[in-house]
Amino acid sequence: MPYIRETIITTIDRGGKVHIAPIGIIAERDGWVIAPFRPSVTLDNLGEVPFAIANYTDDVRIFAGCLTGRKDWPTVPLDGFPVPRLAAALAHSVLQVESVSDDSVRPRHFCCVVKEEMHAPFTGFNRAKAAVLELAILVSRLSMLPREKIEAEIAYLSIAIEKTASPDEREAWGWLMEKVEGYFAGG
Ligand SMILES: Cc1cc2nc3c(=O)[nH]c(=O)nc-3n(C[C@H](O)[C@H](O)[C@H](O)COP(=O)(O)O)c2cc1C
Repeated sequence: MPYIRETIITTIDRGGKVHIAPIGIIAERDGWVIAPFRPSVTLDNLGEVPFAIANYTDDVRIFAGCLTGRKDWPTVPLDGFPVPRLAAALAHSVLQVESVSDDSVRPRHFCCVVKEEMHAPFTGFNRAKAAVLELAILVSRLSMLPREKIEAEIAYLSIAIEKTASPDEREAWGWLMEKVEGYFAGG
């Protein structure tokens, strides 16, 4: 299996409207593959403006927020590129789409790295951040996974939340758990 970086991808449509989505970018040769499922705004935007910013952030509220209808996170324009970065990015890569392998489920956009910049230090691993990221992935697959698997994973991940979370991770966890509970309640 390839190496995958969990990022927040910013893209724009041809009118300049910014879109933010958590996407795992896949290492390939000297670049990265963005593989958005059909249908998605990210897929449409890459077809209109072939640039994406891969934002590397440890603010897991953004991953959780994007999956729970909270998509309005501050962005910062970049000199020389049409797509902005996230204000909360510790670092970012400017990706330019070089080629597309079409696919009925998940077209693969091979991107080269045009520029990379750092903005703030990485301050170390935190188990609660990792747990929120894992729950975000489960939430993005609720309809594909058996309920028992989701409940077993939540039971394990919640230990890291109880032991190591700051208020930000607790907030992000709460947003995602609301979504899980709503889904199992039939809403
Ligand atoms: C950590 C993480 C990684 C994800 N990676 C992908 C991905 O590689 N491709 C994809 O289509 N969706 C991925 N998703 C789900 C998308 O973020 C979600 O479906 C999103 O709404 C994309 O659709 P949009 O571009 O219309 O917003 C991921 C979600 C999480 C939490």
